[in-house]
Amino acid sequence: MNGHPFTGGRRFAATALVLAAVLSAGGAAAEVSLVPVPARGRGDACVEPTEVMRRNHMEFILHQRDETVHRGIRTSRHSFVGCIDCHAVKRDDGQLARFDDPEHFCTRCHSFAAVRIDCFECHADRPANQAPAAERSPTTLSQLARAAGLPGLPSVRHAEQLP
Ligand code: HEC
Ligand code: HEC
Ligand code: HEC
Repeated sequence: MNGHPFTGGRRFAATALVLAAVLSAGGAAAEVSLVPVPARGRGDACVEPTEVMRRNHMEFILHQRDETVHRGIRTSRHSFVGCIDCHAVKRDDGQLARFDDPEHFCTRCHSFAAVRIDCFECHADRPANQAPAAERSPTTLSQLARAAGLPGLPSVRHAEQLP
């Protein structure tokens, strides 16, 4: 985790957000909830209990990233590609929301919580098989190559891990 830009301020914001979620969940139905409700993911359940994911999703993906990028361990439980596959959001016009669209699963909460992530500069913001070829990210290409039995792209280091 060294060098990862977690800030005390954002932690506080997250705690407040979660607290607000708990309060509004337990409160009267008439109460107006300020917490965005992102579109429901595909399937019956997330990779961890929903409450845990709401609070700790960043720790799972950042940990997964370190396992893969530093130690070459590729498990699929907390894979980033998996998050994007299950959490693709279709807009009214039938297109999948991009990360700069307020309906995008990750952006829906992040714009509210004033969180900015750079992940989608490199990672696909839509499932691999639905992104136009010209927009395929290095990870998408890697994923497609591996699915075809090829070795995939050599791993590029994360920007914050460069010396
Ligand atoms: C197999 C499909 C699947 C995968 C893979 C998956 N999710 Fe989920 N996720 C879901 C579903 C379904 C829900 C809603 C569960 C519920 O309503 O209790 C959910 C809920 C969530 C929530 C809470 C949303 C809310 O309503 O507050 C977050 C945050 C989340 N997922 C993030 C992630 C991240 C990050 C990853 C990758 C590490 C991931 N998910 C992988 C299906 C998935
Ligand atoms: C239920 C609302 C919600 C959803 C959905 C959500 N996030 Fe978050 N995310 C947050 C909040 C709130 C924070 C700030 C938490 C903190 O800093 O402690 C955060 C922080 C993060 C961070 C750490 C940012 C930093 O610089 O500290 C990452 C990485 C992240 N989210 C990735 C994702 C990804 C990828 C998705 C979509 C797959 C996603 N999140 C979906 C609410 C959400
Ligand atoms: C500068 C480009 C770049 C940025 C920015 C970036 N990544 Fe990556 N990431 C990569 C590359 C390249 C790999 C290795 C791909 C592979 O070999 O599958 C990778 C691998 C990963 C993996 C392991 C593979 C997987 O699908 O689970 C995770 C998790 C991950 N990154 C999460 C993140 C998160 C979260 C962010 C934002 C906080 C982020 N990355 C930002 C380029 C980037």
